[in-house]
Amino acid sequence: MYQVPKLTDFSPAALDKAVTELTSALEQECAKACSEPEWKALRDRWMARKNGILTQVNDLWLKAAPAEAKREVGRRVNELRAHVENDVVAAQERMAGRSGSDRLAAERVDITLPGITRPIGARHPVLQALDDVVKVFKSMGYSVEEGPEVETDYYNFEALNFPPNHPARDTQDTIFLAGQDKKPARDRLLLRTHTSPVQIRSMQKYPPPVRVVCPGKVHRHDTPDASHSPLFHQVEGLAVDTNITFCDLKGTLDHAMKALFGSSVKTRFYPSFFPFTEPSADVQISCPFCGGKGCRTCKQSGWIELLGCGMVDPNVFDFVRDNGYDPGKISGFAFGMGADRVAMLRYGIDDIQLLFQGDVRFLEQFA
Ligand code: DAH
Repeated sequence: MYQVPKLTDFSPAALDKAVTELTSALEQECAKACSEPEWKALRDRWMARKNGILTQVNDLWLKAAPAEAKREVGRRVNELRAHVENDVVAAQERMAGRSGSDRLAAERVDITLPGITRPIGARHPVLQALDDVVKVFKSMGYSVEEGPEVETDYYNFEALNFPPNHPARDTQDTIFLAGQDKKPARDRLLLRTHTSPVQIRSMQKYPPPVRVVCPGKVHRHDTPDASHSPLFHQVEGLAVDTNITFCDLKGTLDHAMKALFGSSVKTRFYPSFFPFTEPSADVQISCPFCGGKGCRTCKQSGWIELLGCGMVDPNVFDFVRDNGYDPGKISGFAFGMGADRVAMLRYGIDDIQLLFQGDVRFLEQFA
């Protein structure tokens, strides 16, 4: 490591030699500085006011020089100062530039490399099923309506012809919101137990004729098992016009089931009860897995129950009579199907819980 020598010979030749040694040491050290800390050490070694090399040169060369040599030594020391400052600054610039170009070299894009594929999510099978059902009805001219998941007693029950305290309400395992006791019964909030309230909302919004499907989440106070979940999904349907008959209902649903499960699927309607339809029916389809022969999925019956339906009860129209729904002049049918069931049948899923556990290993199969 270069050290500033004490001078005894102040002749121009001796001075030149001392200057050359110093500048070559300077150049070597500047060339070695590659990083910010190294450059700072370099700067301090050469330029620190206290004991830096320039300061030493000043003390050991200029101050020590005999009077007659002072001019010559002074000139050289001044030149050295400029030289050192210049080289140290240049070293910094080169160092910064070098790390910049290193970065550039590292970051250069190699367009021949395969791209980075970012995993994009898969559509959830339930959403897929909801979409599929909606699509079938859209192609028959239905439009789509949605309603709130937090619903009032009025829309979820009363306007659907469930009178207060009617036993049919028991079948709905309702989850009520707390703190509603002070409100009139019809304004109390609950989690909707079915998508049927959207029928009423749609008829309040549009005068007849209407043809709507209403997909959405519904909630019931059910213990989870392979076929029950406190949260599930339905698609509601409603068609109201003059002269809508049970034949229209049968034809529409038969077509929809064939569109969803294949053209060889058969439908079967048998009597049931819902407060908001009269007559009411449950719809079964022939088991798409065994073709009706009987298997595990259809519990050996050959049939699978998929939805409820019926002709809209005149009492329901009475709640929206003001908007043109005079039960003496119009008629309609309604239906409601479980979208989770549809998804499970279409994808061969045997446990409804799988749909809601969010296990990526399950969900990515639908990507
Ligand atoms: N809302 C009924 C339920 O969740 C299903 C249903 C049955 C809907 C008959 C309808 C219908 O629109 O007409 O149990």
